[in-house]
Amino acid sequence: MNRDEIVAELFRLRDKKYAAFQAKLIPTVEAERIIGVRTPELRSFAKRLFKDEDIVSFLECLPHQYFDENQLHAFVISLEKDFYKCTAEVEAFLPFIDNWATCDQLSPKVFKKEPEKLLPYIITWIGSDKVYTVRFAIGMLMEHFLGERFHSKYADLLRLTPKKAYPEKGIRKYFFGGGSAVIKEAPELEPYKVNLEQYRQIVFVTPVWAGTVTPPLRTFIQAENLEGKHFAFAACSLGGSPEKTFEALRSLLGVTGDVPTLWLVEPKRKQKPENEKAIGEFCGKL
Ligand SMILES: Cc1cc2nc3c(=O)[nH]c(=O)nc-3n(C[C@H](O)[C@H](O)[C@H](O)COP(=O)(O)O)c2cc1C
Repeated sequence: MNRDEIVAELFRLRDKKYAAFQAKLIPTVEAERIIGVRTPELRSFAKRLFKDEDIVSFLECLPHQYFDENQLHAFVISLEKDFYKCTAEVEAFLPFIDNWATCDQLSPKVFKKEPEKLLPYIITWIGSDKVYTVRFAIGMLMEHFLGERFHSKYADLLRLTPKKAYPEKGIRKYFFGGGSAVIKEAPELEPYKVNLEQYRQIVFVTPVWAGTVTPPLRTFIQAENLEGKHFAFAACSLGGSPEKTFEALRSLLGVTGDVPTLWLVEPKRKQKPENEKAIGEFCGKL
């Protein structure tokens, strides 16, 4: 099948209502580029095409016009069993991915078998200036390097816990937490283990509390020697601007230059594709 025949088949399989539904979910793709083929149909079409000798000409026909062609492309190359052929096909396709759905559905089976071989590729992709290449790299890390294979060299998370816990919810949380933030308290922390010499960059992640950083971060910054480190800041809030919080971090750390920042509004309760995009862009700057 050549590219035109493939597109004709996609139009034959289309479901217009599904196309309208997809268009709302995928804001980075214009609605007229979404044909509306459901995923199970795309997957079985991909299986047929994978055995077709002409498929190479479709894979080389980049960028694709339609979202559904991109989906099909992701599914076809995910079936490749040879590790190096598969990574070459993935690398050729990554710069053309323009949406989160294609990015997240590109998941070659062969990577599961040989994750150690994949790691150097992930490290290159994560440094890309293309947002969906970075997102794909993070997705591969999450898919193949969490659980048993997790190693602290991939990412370390340090949770700061005050010895005297803040109330967990309700008005008391706002009263005691907010009060503590306003008077710039630096509460005593539960002991934590970290060897900061191993790290080039530290990402501070905090909710906005009373327009500023949470007090345990203040304690950490005052207690540790962070000279020579690079920083990045991520904050979440109910909608209040994070600028003062970032300013407080800058001042506590004594930084004057540019620092990568990320701001999310209630990310736990309101999960949305724009957040994923913002996180991908932020990670790309680290
Ligand atoms: C003590 C306290 C003060 C807060 N102050 C602000 C604020 O000034 N501006 C804002 O937009 N959100 C504020 N929030 C909301 C949090 O930033 C928001 O709930 C955050 O996304 C999640 O933080 P949490 O897990 O500590 O609730 C505050 C929350 C608490 C508990």
